Order: sequence, then C-alpha cells, then structure tokens
Amino acid sequence: LTIQVDKPGIEISPTMWGIFFEDINFAADGGLYAEMVKNRSFEFADPLMGWDLKEVNGGKGNILVVNRNLLNTGNQRYADINLENNKGTFEFINEGFRGMGFKSGEDYNLSMMAKVGTGNINLQIQAVNEAGAVIAQTAVEPFTKDWKTLTAKLKCTQNAAKGSLKLIFTGTGRVQVDMISLFPENTFKHRKNGLRADLAQKLADLHPGFMRFPGGCIVEGRDLANRYQWKKTVGNVSDRQLIINRWNTEFSYRSAPDYFQSFGLGFFDYFQLCEDIGAAPLPILNCGMACQFNSGEVISINQLDPFIQDALDLIEFANGGLNTKWGRLRADMGHPAPFNLKTIGIGNEQWGEQYLERYKLFAAAIHNKHPEVAMVTSAGPFSGGELFDYLNKALRAENAGLIDEHYYAPPEWFLRNANRYDKYSRDKTKIFAGEYAAHIKDDAQKDKHAESHNTWWAALCEAAFMTGLERNADVVNMASYAPLLAHVDAWQWRPDLIWFDNLRSVATPNYYVQQAFSANKGSEVVPVTDNGKALTGQDSLYSSSTIDRENGKLIIKVVNTSLTAKQVSFDLQGATVSGKDMQWMQLSDKDKLAFNSVDNPDAIKPVIRSVKWVANKPVNIEPLSVNVITLTLR
Ligand code: AHR
Repeated sequence: LTIQVDKPGIEISPTMWGIFFEDINFAADGGLYAEMVKNRSFEFADPLMGWDLKEVNGGKGNILVVNRNLLNTGNQRYADINLENNKGTFEFINEGFRGMGFKSGEDYNLSMMAKVGTGNINLQIQAVNEAGAVIAQTAVEPFTKDWKTLTAKLKCTQNAAKGSLKLIFTGTGRVQVDMISLFPENTFKHRKNGLRADLAQKLADLHPGFMRFPGGCIVEGRDLANRYQWKKTVGNVSDRQLIINRWNTEFSYRSAPDYFQSFGLGFFDYFQLCEDIGAAPLPILNCGMACQFNSGEVISINQLDPFIQDALDLIEFANGGLNTKWGRLRADMGHPAPFNLKTIGIGNEQWGEQYLERYKLFAAAIHNKHPEVAMVTSAGPFSGGELFDYLNKALRAENAGLIDEHYYAPPEWFLRNANRYDKYSRDKTKIFAGEYAAHIKDDAQKDKHAESHNTWWAALCEAAFMTGLERNADVVNMASYAPLLAHVDAWQWRPDLIWFDNLRSVATPNYYVQQAFSANKGSEVVPVTDNGKALTGQDSLYSSSTIDRENGKLIIKVVNTSLTAKQVSFDLQGATVSGKDMQWMQLSDKDKLAFNSVDNPDAIKPVIRSVKWVANKPVNIEPLSVNVITLTLR
C-alpha cells in the first residue's frame, strides 16, 4: 500500500466520531440515570405500577393515591398511607427497573418527600435480594407535620442483581409520601443523584467528539403531546413532567408497558455529561412534527412559533449570560459558565414538504439571531429512495449545514458502501452520519443472548465502512453508531453499542471498533492507495490513514474482511519513521458470529503490541481483523 504522507489535505473535524444517546432500551430511566426506584412519584399511567403492598404479621393498611392538583402538571400525585392497627407491619415495596442492582460494601442514598397526617408511624427501609433476604437495613428519620425531604443511607452487605427496596411502616395513623428515590452513592464524577458510573465511564472511554441527544424518535413522540420538550426537563427534578416513552409501544420489537420518561436525566444533565466526557453537545429538537412512522401529526404552520422559540431559548439556556432568563436558570442549576453550544439539530427522521417548510422557518430564525450556531437537518427515514433524494436536493439548495443520514442495513451493505461518500458533492453542505449499525438477520442468532446481534462480522463491516467515512472527512464531519445503550432484560431494539444489566455492563465488538477510530482520529487524512486506487474492498481489504500533527504520528487503519490472512507492506511517501517500533492495535476473531455478553465480556477485545518497523517489509494482516498501526514520524 502506498501511504502518501506528503499529500495530506483533508482536515478531520474534532467532532468526527461521536455518540448518539436516546432513551431507548432503558438507556436513561433504568440505565444511565442511576435512580433505582421505578415510578418514584406515582405519575405513571397506573399510579402504583412498580409498587407492591404487603400486610405482614397482622399489620393492616391501605394506600390512596391523591392528586394534589390536576393543574400541577409536574408532580400531581402522592401516596397517602393509612395504617389501621398497631400490629405487625405494612410494607410498600418497589421492584426497580427489572430489579435493583446492589453491590456489597456500597452505600445507597434514600430520599423521600413525606409528612405525617395523624397518629404515630415509624419507617424502616431495607434492601432485599431476589430471595427476599435482607442485605441492608436502616431507620428513616421521624415524619414531620409539614412536607420535608427525609433521607437515609443503606450499606449493603451482599450483591443482588435483582433486589428490591422495602419501606416498612409500623404504628397507626396516616402518612403521605412522594418522590421516593434511591441512588448509589458511587455515581459518575461523584455527582449527587447522578449517573451510573460504569456506563458513563464507558461513554467517556469512547473519547466522543460530540454527543447527539435526546433522540431519535423520542424527540418526535408518537403524537405531538408526547414529544420531547426540553423546558420540561430542567429545574427541580420533582417538577419535571413525566410522559410515556415512545418506545413503550407495540411498534417496538419487544414492548415495555412500564417505560416512561421521568426526565430525571434532563437537558442540564445532558450538557453536563457532554462537558464531563469532552464531547460537543448536539441537542435535537422537535420541528413541529410527530413521528411519521406513527401518527405523523404536524403542528399547523401558523402555530410553529413556540417550537422555534424553544430552539432560540435553548441556545440561551446553553450559552446565554446570567442576565438572561434561561442563562440564569442554567446558573441556578449549578453551571454559571456557558455550555458552549455550537450546533443544534431540527427534527429527527422527518421527510416530505412538511419538513422542508418547517425547517426553513427554523433556519431563518436561528441564522438571524444566532449566526454562530450551525444546524443539523433530517435526511428522511433511511438513506436512499425517493424521499431521501427529494430532501437531500432541496436542503442542499437551501445551503443546509449538515444533513443527518441514517442507515440500518445488513453487514454486506456496509462493505458495498465503503466508497459511498467518494461520489458525494463537495459543496457547502456536509454529512452527519447520525445513526448507523449493521443488522444481521433476526433469526440467525434468535435463541441466543440479547447481546448476540452485536456479532464480530457486523462490527468488522462497520469498520470497513468507517474507513470510507474517514477518507471522506471533507464530506462527513460527524458520525455516530446507534443505539448506544441497552438493558439485557428491557430492550426494544438491537444491536446496540453497550449492553448492561443492573450490576454489569459490556462493551460490544462494535464499541471497540468505534473506539479504534475515535481514539486514533488524527488531524488530517493522508491518501492510501493500491495501484493508484483507494483501498475499498480489493482483495477484501479496506484502509484509511491520518496524520496526528500535534503528536507527530502516522495512523494507518487496515480492515481485512476475508477468512485468509493478507501480507501487506507500507510504502510511506515523503516521511521517515523515527522509532524502531510501531504500535499495533488489533481486533480479531475467527468466528464471524462471536459476540461479547455481560456474562462473557472479553470474547473480543483490543490487543495492543509493539512490532518492529521495517520499511516496505510485508506484515501479516490476520483474517477477519481490524488493525490500527501507529508510527512515530521524524
Ligand atoms: O436508533 C433507534 C431509532 O432508529 C431512532 O430513534 C430513530 O431515529 C431511528 O429510526
């Protein structure tokens, strides 16, 4: 292979490789958001969903769900608990999100809003394991006459993967309770009531250049009433209005009737996470259209202003001074400095004239007030076809900034499309490959683990395709795999990048492929050619190469999708290698169907070694392998 180190040219955007977060597969509630209590403030459609009541040893009690104010849309309901006798106990038990994960030796913080109505009632709490054994117990401070937030700490003595939380009441009388919440003490960056540490760390370890959030279809909602509205996700956690999750639906591969969005993980938290993991924030807002795969409801054009205002106000929330309404709220929530928002997306997978006419109004308002903010637009449902071509052409005519293309397709599509962007127009409009993943046939791995669709073959084909994205970094400025996270017992869509249960998480082969590119990005593309042509599948090999100017490195990526090893030599033009060794990161497996699972997380993982560099001497590229070779230049 000829590596034309003397012909760098295309700059690689710092945002080239990023992540896309959507609350699908219990990614937020029950996942990254570390809250362990499901339906903590009784706002689910069935107010006691997730809760169980037990009268023990002659105890007698009942619960009334009270609506304090139909107009208080944020937190309408609380539970009024009535203990009828002084015998035994009355238990109120929360099942968590497919159980609660407790770790031996760790602390868990309970908080709840409560007040006493009449009588004299005491409260103990317990963490119990799946067999019902107590693994932590403590008393909660006494109830007061007025609403007060009560707290307690549970210290766990054993692990439990599917435990639960028991509130054990004794005495007689009435107490009122609300926002019953349990978080691990150990969260990401030790933020109180924050994010699950292992999952957030896995995101950070991807070195994402950006994070797109909060969706995806949940931005659109099945109807407009259930669209994502960022203003309802900031401010006091207890005032955030819960809605049904768009993935709580028969449309999903697997329905989840208990899937709601509490918005405990809201827009402030997303911005903060971006900052914590060094990713540029990319919020996506509803464009006045609900999901076209569902109701397809649109807001009439003369009612679009509030939607546009939401976008302008979001820019103020992220970047505005402390003298602005939304900038002030950001400061009050704990972040006086701006979040440095540079790009905003309008609409998810929208298509047709309805999208175009709404997009134009958003674009005019945003460009007018905030010319410094770039915009991402929809490209229609999936890449290709009439709808896609129509929008692509029309948006380019509008000089759109970034068009968000999505492709979920068989692995072989990714191989065939490794040269997709070689042919794209080099005009002002750039591409954001905002959602992609290689999907194997559903029945191929049917009876295996949830994680089994994240096969090595799928990951390998994505890597081959990504060499094409990198080579065309002048057209493709951003790219992200989708979806990001999935709970093994509560998923609606697969494959996904990271799987987890209540205690563990696992990086898929696809994760390691993403990481191979994002952690070895470089700053400029240098051409790799084989007999004068880019390497896009000749002899089942795919390659791209970049220079990391700051660190004086040459990074060569080579993907071999065949079942035989290949001998490849590198002819570096216009460069001399300084060190004697090259650093070689390799991902490989002989089994195309191999995958990582929470039970067997290391079936496929990167192996890094040092190999002696000899100019032009052929090296062995293993069958079915992704290779990142890094050389230090003189
Ligand atoms: O990533 C899962 C879904 O796929 C997203 O919500 C949507 O944008 C796409 O259809």
